[in-house]
Order: sequence, then C-alpha cells, then structure tokens
Amino acid sequence: MSDTPLPGVFQLTPMNPEFNDDPHRLLDRLRTECPVHRDTQAGTFILTRHADVRSMLGDTTMWRSPERAEEAAYIQRALVEQRIEGIRMSEEEARSGILLMDEPDHMRIRGPFAKALYKRVAKCKPLVQLVVDQYLAPLKSQPTFDAMDAFALRVPIDVIARILGVDEGRLTEFREWSEGAILGLNPFRSPEETEFLVRATNAMSQYMGELMDRRRAEPRDDLVSDMMTLQAEGAPLGDGEISNNLQGLLIGGNLTTTDLIGNALWLFLTHPEELAKLKADPSLINSAVEEVLRYESPVDITGRIAPRDMEIGGCPVRQSQSLFASIHTASTSRARTRRMSPSAAGCISASARRSHGWRRRSRSRASSLPSRARASPIPTPNRNGGRCRSSGASRTWWSPPGKRPRATSSTSGGLRRAAARHAHYCGL
Ligand code: HEM
Repeated sequence: MSDTPLPGVFQLTPMNPEFNDDPHRLLDRLRTECPVHRDTQAGTFILTRHADVRSMLGDTTMWRSPERAEEAAYIQRALVEQRIEGIRMSEEEARSGILLMDEPDHMRIRGPFAKALYKRVAKCKPLVQLVVDQYLAPLKSQPTFDAMDAFALRVPIDVIARILGVDEGRLTEFREWSEGAILGLNPFRSPEETEFLVRATNAMSQYMGELMDRRRAEPRDDLVSDMMTLQAEGAPLGDGEISNNLQGLLIGGNLTTTDLIGNALWLFLTHPEELAKLKADPSLINSAVEEVLRYESPVDITGRIAPRDMEIGGCPVRQSQSLFASIHTASTSRARTRRMSPSAAGCISASARRSHGWRRRSRSRASSLPSRARASPIPTPNRNGGRCRSSGASRTWWSPPGKRPRATSSTSGGLRRAAARHAHYCGL
C-alpha cells in the first residue's frame, strides 16, 4: 500500500490532469486500498466497488436533495448555498430539477414527464435514422473530417431538439447553453464560467418560458406541447417545474450522448480488433454500445445522501452524510474487468442511463426485498485512522485533512481537450 494520500473527490475530476489522462490509475488505487473512502476535504464518502455502487444506486430510499446533506458535505452545501448573482428565474423553477430532488415531489414531476417522453421516444426511431443519415451523407465524400465536430456534437442536440419541438435553427445556441447551464453543478467554476452559466441559464429559461406560452396557445406535435396538454388536463405541475425539467432534457439529452459517441469512436479506434469483430457482425451493435457505456462511462460520478445511519461495505455511514459513487470504476471492476469487448455488456452506467425505468423497477421490488443498505448500529468513527471492517486489512477510511485544491482549468475546456473522453457532473 502506498504512503501517498488516497485521492479525494477533487482529484477525481477532469480538472486533475492525471485523472483526465488515465482515470483508472487513481480509481483502481482507491478501490483496492479503500473501496469506501472518507474524503474529509470534500466531506463525502467515495464508493468504488461494484457491489456498493450498485447497492447505493438501487436503494430508492436514498436522498438526492443537497439540502439534506450535513454541514461537512462541502459540495452539496456549496450547491445549496451558492447564490448566483444575475440569474433571473423564479424560486420554483430554480429548485425543481428532478436530478437533485427527493420524494414525493420527484415522482410527482417525473411521472408525467416519463409518460410523455417515452411516448415520444417510441415514435422517434425513424426520425433518429433520418438525422443520422443527414449528417453522415456529406462525410462520405470527405477523405478526413473531425468526427466530434461533424457528427458527435451535432446528432444528439438535433434529435432532442426535434423531440422537444424547439427551434431547429438554433441548435448551436442550445448546445452552448447546455455547456453553460451544466456548470451549475460545478462548484469549482471560475468567475468567467459563472458568467457563462448566468448567460446560458437566463437565455435557456427565457426561451423555454416563451416556447411554453406559444405551445399552450397553439399546440404542435412535440414534447413541449405534450407537457402543456398534461398540465391543462390536471397533471400537478407548475410552470417553473415544467420549464426546468424540459431544460434538463435538452441538456441531458445532448451532452451525455455526444460523450458516448465520442467515447465509442475513440475506443474502437484504439481497439482495432474489437472494431473488426463489430464490422464482421453488426448485430453486436447493441451490446457494443452497452460495453462502451461500461468501459468509458460519459458520467463518472453520481451522488446520494444517507437517509439514516447505515453501513456500506462494512463502513459506518451516518444520516445526512454524503456518498459519491464512481460509476466509472465500479463498471470496470467486475470479473471481466478491464477489457473492452463489444460482446460483453452489463454495466452500472448502462443501468444509470436507463435510470428512468430503473428507479421504478427498484421501487416495485422494494416491498418484497429487505433493504440492501441495512440500518445497523454505528461505531464511533476514529478520525485518526478508522478501519473499514469489511475489508479486512488496514483500510483507512478517514484521510488526513489538508488544503482544498483549487480548480485551475475549466471543466468544459478540459472535456473538450479530451475530445472523445469527457465527462460531466451528473448528480454531483
Ligand atoms: C449515454 C447517455 C446517458 C447517460 C450515460 C446518462 C447518465 C445518467 C446518470 C448517471 C444519471 C443519474 C442517475 C442517478 O444518480 O440515479 C442520469 C439521470 C438523468 N438523465 Fe441521463 N444519461 C444519458 C442520457 C440521457 C438522455 C438522452 C436524457 C433525456 C432525453 C437524460 C435525462 C436524464 C434525466 C431527466 C435524469 C434524472 C432522472 C431522475 O432523477 O429521475 N439522460 N443520467
């Protein structure tokens, strides 16, 4: 075991060049030396073992709202306490994104959205084919092209824009607003990034509010109209709640998918033998996509708050303590582990991607299964070097306090540089 302190959350972001270069080096170390690691600087546990991550994400009693986190949970508290000057948005709209919301409001909002979105998605397969063909056609005659710029950045925003019914002439702006708005989940952003965040958030909110009014007056065949109709028919949703979550779909519907396409291109180019298998048998495509999600997840980390005192992987966790789960390492740490193969599938990231249905499935099973995250008596933590009881040997779960590192590079800039291998802070 190395004497170097274990990495904390701050070191596990694209802002850390070492992590950006090879995330697995740091994550493997965490998983082997302390799979339930207490990062005292960020005030959170970091889970890196597949079983613990799966169990955390499958436990529908976990809290998501940062407001329920203890004072020491630096990142969640920063999200709650940040007062961003210049954002013009009602309190209702600002606080109603379902990603960081607890029950019963989460399901009240998610239910009608899921109903409308799934219906639209079911209808849109030919539309996706059309959009993909439209971007591929001109590339066929070009000897070389930038695949991120010409394809991966364009297709997802075009698809989600058509599903929502937003103006197809403004795709570049939507993409830019998405990059700006996602910075709201990054408490380490620079003043310039905060300015970008404010500009993007205000523009997107104003646009969505106006579009909702237009569709309310004159419905069309699109998701914004569907939501206006559901509201008129009695779905218990405020305008701010609808607007925030439509913006969430616009953002979530393009950033992650762009990353997924980029990751897939990069992985197949760096694993030519796997590309050859896929070309020889295109029916492998579905499991290939799952495998890309497993191997290089577009979303590295997601978070929860402990709803009660509990034990995770043998480590005591108190109510309101923060939990971050590394989807990245959990997905690549199973028996098949670190080999990219289009025929191997089944990953945490794929489950998270389907989290729309996953929560529901988990919930329906909850009554017949004992809670996986059992409540148990909590031993008093030893701040000078407590031990994970489950992990046998000497796994320290309190890291020594130190200075909080400062962000030096822009998240989206870092992501861009990594081009095909970037990540966003879903759930942070
Ligand atoms: C490769 C593509 C995608 C990946 C890897 C991905 C990943 C994730 C992850 C990790 C979460 C958090 C799950 C959790 O903490 O339980 C999440 C939530 C969410 N995603 Fe995605 N996502 C993808 C595509 C999309 C798309 C296309 C949309 C919309 C059209 C979308 C909308 C959402 C929404 C609304 C939530 C919040 C769900 C809730 O809290 O109930 N995502 N996604």
